[in-house]
Amino acid sequence: MPRLAASVETVPRSRIRELAEIAMSMEGVLRLYFGESSLPTPDYIKRAATRAIEDGFTFYTENAGLPSLRRAIAENYRRLHGVELDPAGEIVVTASGVQALNVAIRCALDPGDEALVLTPAWPNGSSIVTMANAVVRQVPQPWCGDRYGIDFDALAAAVTPRTRLLLYTSPSNPLGWVATADEQRGLLDFARRHGLWLLADEVYERLYYAGSSLGDPVPSILRMATRDDAVMVVHSFSKSYCMTGWRLGWLVARRDLAAKATELNEFIISHAPSFAQKAGETALAEGEGELRAMLARLKGNRDLCLEALAGMPGVAVPKPDGAFYLFPRIDGLEDSFGFCRRLLEETRVGLAPGVAFGAGGEGSVRICYAAERDILEPAIERLAKFLRSGA
Ligand SMILES: Cc1ncc(COP(=O)(O)O)c(C=O)c1O
Repeated sequence: MPRLAASVETVPRSRIRELAEIAMSMEGVLRLYFGESSLPTPDYIKRAATRAIEDGFTFYTENAGLPSLRRAIAENYRRLHGVELDPAGEIVVTASGVQALNVAIRCALDPGDEALVLTPAWPNGSSIVTMANAVVRQVPQPWCGDRYGIDFDALAAAVTPRTRLLLYTSPSNPLGWVATADEQRGLLDFARRHGLWLLADEVYERLYYAGSSLGDPVPSILRMATRDDAVMVVHSFSKSYCMTGWRLGWLVARRDLAAKATELNEFIISHAPSFAQKAGETALAEGEGELRAMLARLKGNRDLCLEALAGMPGVAVPKPDGAFYLFPRIDGLEDSFGFCRRLLEETRVGLAPGVAFGAGGEGSVRICYAAERDILEPAIERLAKFLRSGA
C-alpha cells in the first residue's frame, strides 16, 4: 500500500481550523476565531465583478495577472508609498495572499534549507516552509513593556549555514504589532548581512491606526529596500476590501524571483480568476472611502475591546497599532486550546487559541475584533464573565 509522503505528514494541522471546525458544528456561536469581518464585500466591488463577467472576463489571463491590474497595483504603491515598481517585471498577481506566500517561499527555499520566522505568527507561513521540505526556526517576539519588539540576538543565534529566508508580518497577525522604521531597517540590514531573502507579509498594510490620519498605510519595506534587494512583499485584497472569499492577492519581488514565480503560477493555479482581478482593479481605484469608514469602525472596536480587557482579571494586552486582532495574555494559562474549547462549549464564544501561532503564542488567545458590534459586545461580555468565574 503506498503511504502519504512523509514530508506532508509532518505539516501540522492548523489549530485555528481545528477549533473552528468544532464551532461550525454548533449553533449560535459568536465567531471571532477567523481573520475576517462579518461585513460582506462592498457593493461597488460586487458590481464590478458582475460587469466583468458580462464583459467577457471569463477566459484565461496571463500567469502574472492582467496587465491592467498590475498597473493598478503599481499605481497604488506610487500613491501610497512613493515607490516605483515595474508592473511588467516586479509584480505577480496571485489567487490570494496565502498563494503569494506559497510561491514566494517555494522560489526561495530548497529542501533542507532553513527559514527564520518571527512569531507568534499566522501559522500558514511556517507550514508552507515545511511543505517546501525546508526547516522552520521560529524566533519569538519579546514583549517589551507597552509593545512587542524584535530580539535581534535571538535571530542571529538562529542563523545556520542553511538559513535562506526571514519571514515577518507587519502589521502582525495575531499581535497587531507594527514594525517601526528602525525595526524595518534592522530586519533589512540583518537579511543583507546574512545573505537572506526577506519576506514581508504586508497583508494588513491598510489597517493602521497610528498614522497621521486614518487611511495612511503602514510604510512598506519597499520604501527602504532597493529593487535589487532580495526582498519580497506579500499582499492581499482579503482584509482591506472584505474579499476573503474571492482569493486575490499579489507578490512584489526582485525581477528574477518574480519571473520564476510567474512561471510557477502556471503549475499551481495558472492565475487568479479573471473577473476577480477586474473587481480588484475597481477596489484599488474606488475603495478609499469605504476603507476609511471601515477603519473608523475597526478602531472603535479595538478601543472598546481594550477597555473591556483592561477590566478583566489576570489579562494583559499591549495596545496594537494595526490589523484587527488583540492577543491578550492570560495569567497562568498553559493550555490555550483547552481554554478556547471550554469557552466555546460553555459560552458559545469562538476565539483562536494562542498555541496556534507558534513559539511565544501559548498562554494567550486571539480575538478578531472585525465583527459587528452585535457579535463583539456580547462575546466580550461573556469572555469577562467566563474569566471572572475562574475558568
Ligand atoms: C498574516 C496573513 N498573511 C496572509 C493572509 C492571507 O490572506 P488571503 O489568503 O485571504 O489573501 C492572512 C489571512 O488571514 C494573514 O493573516
